[in-house]
Amino acid sequence: MPFGPGAARAAVVTRVAVVTGGASGIGAAVVRTLARDSTHVVVADVDLDAAREVAAEVGGRAAQLDVTDSQAVDAFFADGQCPDVLVCSAGGALRSAALEIDDPTFGAVLDLNVGGFFRCARAAARRSIRLSRPLSIVHVGSSLAEGAATDLAHFGAAKAACASLVRTLAVEWASHGIRVNSVVPGLVRTPATAAVLASHEASLARDVPLGRVGEPDDVAGAVAYLVGADAGWVTGTAVTVDGGRRASR
Ligand SMILES: NC(=O)c1ccc[n+]([C@@H]2O[C@H](COP(=O)([O-])OP(=O)(O)OC[C@H]3O[C@@H](n4cnc5c(N)ncnc54)[C@H](O)[C@@H]3O)[C@@H](O)[C@H]2O)c1
Repeated sequence: MPFGPGAARAAVVTRVAVVTGGASGIGAAVVRTLARDSTHVVVADVDLDAAREVAAEVGGRAAQLDVTDSQAVDAFFADGQCPDVLVCSAGGALRSAALEIDDPTFGAVLDLNVGGFFRCARAAARRSIRLSRPLSIVHVGSSLAEGAATDLAHFGAAKAACASLVRTLAVEWASHGIRVNSVVPGLVRTPATAAVLASHEASLARDVPLGRVGEPDDVAGAVAYLVGADAGWVTGTAVTVDGGRRASR
């Protein structure tokens, strides 16, 4: 089955997108951006109340989904409408020095960030392959996957594993018309970064060539490109959205 530009354009006229972690921060910005582009968005988040608020804003649907619950993830993708787009933004970790990270915490951060991405991508891919429908998956990675992730060793390791998964899944699933890409944000203003920005924003912004930290919409724009028709021949790659920070190191 061919998946050229024509096929991709037809697929985006009316799309269904699932955004995990869509109730807050980068995920919520992705929800709002995709909803402006002929897309029905399902806001899938462990926090149902927050998901409902974001879904109501855009006329989308809220769903309670814990991406660490494998059975729930499988049921979610088996039962609902087959998505054309899956954006995996659920993730995160609490800061801790590597010496203080115990096994359960290390395992939980890997399970949320790597396991959560993999099981959602796998369930959505199985569904789309069964129905012979194209699918575009975007993972929200992190610039901390490269270099040292001081006080976030578990998180940096998890996001590095996700970057590998993006490449492998893209190659394994390409023949099914499934594209898999990632956006790689630098420091972005969200509830998850409120504390560090409250105390250090000015000095952190000085390290960014474009002179400011990121906003969730900066990342959402890159996601919109990757899931759109103009990226119909783009798979297995990462778009860095960091104000030039990576290039300057
Ligand atoms: N903010 C940044 O600077 C930054 C930088 C790089 C990467 N990221 C990544 O972007 C993504 C979004 O981060 P954010 O800053 O918007 O965080 P956020 O805390 O604002 O949003 C995360 C969302 O994920 C949801 N979530 C958490 N655990 C979940 C689970 N088990 N199942 C389903 N949903 C769950 C939360 O309820 C929340 O709505 C994360 O993967 C994060 O690692 C963020």
